[in-house]
Amino acid sequence: MSYQVNEKGYYGDFGGAFIPEMLYPNVEELRSRYLDIMQEESFQEEFRQLLKDYVGRPTPLYFAERFSKKYSTKVYLKREDLCHTGAHKVNNTIGQILMAKRLGKNRIIAETGAGQHGVATATVCALMGIECVVYMGEIDIKRQAPNVARMKMLGATVVPATSGSRTLKDATNEAIRDWINNPVDTHYIIGSVVGPHPYPDMVARFQSVISEEVKKQLQEKEGRENPDFVVACVGGGSNAAGIYYHYLDQEKVGIIAVEAAGEGVLTGKSAATSALGREGIIHGSKTLLMQTDDGQITEPYSISAGLDYPGVGPMHANLFRTGRGEFISVTDTEAMAAGLELCKLEGIIPAIETAHALAIFETRKFREDDVVVVNLSGRGDKDLNTYIEHFNL
Ligand SMILES: Cc1ncc(COP(=O)(O)O)c(C=O)c1O
Repeated sequence: MSYQVNEKGYYGDFGGAFIPEMLYPNVEELRSRYLDIMQEESFQEEFRQLLKDYVGRPTPLYFAERFSKKYSTKVYLKREDLCHTGAHKVNNTIGQILMAKRLGKNRIIAETGAGQHGVATATVCALMGIECVVYMGEIDIKRQAPNVARMKMLGATVVPATSGSRTLKDATNEAIRDWINNPVDTHYIIGSVVGPHPYPDMVARFQSVISEEVKKQLQEKEGRENPDFVVACVGGGSNAAGIYYHYLDQEKVGIIAVEAAGEGVLTGKSAATSALGREGIIHGSKTLLMQTDDGQITEPYSISAGLDYPGVGPMHANLFRTGRGEFISVTDTEAMAAGLELCKLEGIIPAIETAHALAIFETRKFREDDVVVVNLSGRGDKDLNTYIEHFNL
């Protein structure tokens, strides 16, 4: 059994491409060409070169000695926070901008919630001299002002999404609408392993550089390529897909996915999709999503804007349903405490999304000789205000 996508674009029961007819030509063009383009030697050369010289890869695999001691196990941190722009998101935007160029597109659109994917997209568009339009919910524009300023400085146009709840889901709807209206010259850079096939697979492949590096780095440090566990937070699921990728079909490597429980899974203010979600369709993909009894999408909540999404990518829905992945949900309070703890124990300020992954060690116990690799998906600079308010700093 494989946990990778099949040739029809499904992970088990999940995935596919549920799109309006008007989008079909765009998605079909991408689907029929993405694998060939990614396998071209010139594509791989340019992608690898930019990841090295522009993004700063490989990112270190750091043995967190004091953190490990506290939790009596061996914890390694994969330092995606040290990527240019401060998170793993840029691995995907570098890949997709090169894809867009080979498809002959000269205009880029993207959606963003926290602004991290918007910044990563605006960055690569500046790098390539390509026009960039980022859709962002009106509410997110207000609460993520520094990232809005960064996108503007990088030359992007930020368009407010004023419909619905005026957050990420609505920004995604606006971006899809734009794509329908501009099918010939525009490429839509989706920011996670969500959306219609081939996006989940394409984004996972771009992010798979993370586990590719971990294998080499663990071989050097531990004399074996495989850890006992890989751990990541899951919003849409792209940093998780990146660190799981080369271990998906190696069943001896445990896969742990950490979701945002917000104020508590059953409080009505949560984004714990595996616990609360049912099968449904969101943004072109069949997956698990939070919805009312009559199928309306429920408003998610998390203190971290990057985990504040009502669904997960189809890869993760399948990992959950098959039992291959162990899903744990972590509240705002637990995550914030874990974020502060990493500052004190290791001198690293993590993004609040990442802090969710770190929080599991309080309750999920490991053996002393287990090697546990946590994806440190991003740095906490963007979250300083939230940390300040939460801890009265
Ligand atoms: C630092 C960081 N980690 C994780 C996420 C969640 O996204 P994903 O699940 O696609 O990795 C985000 C999203 O903005 C992020 O900024």
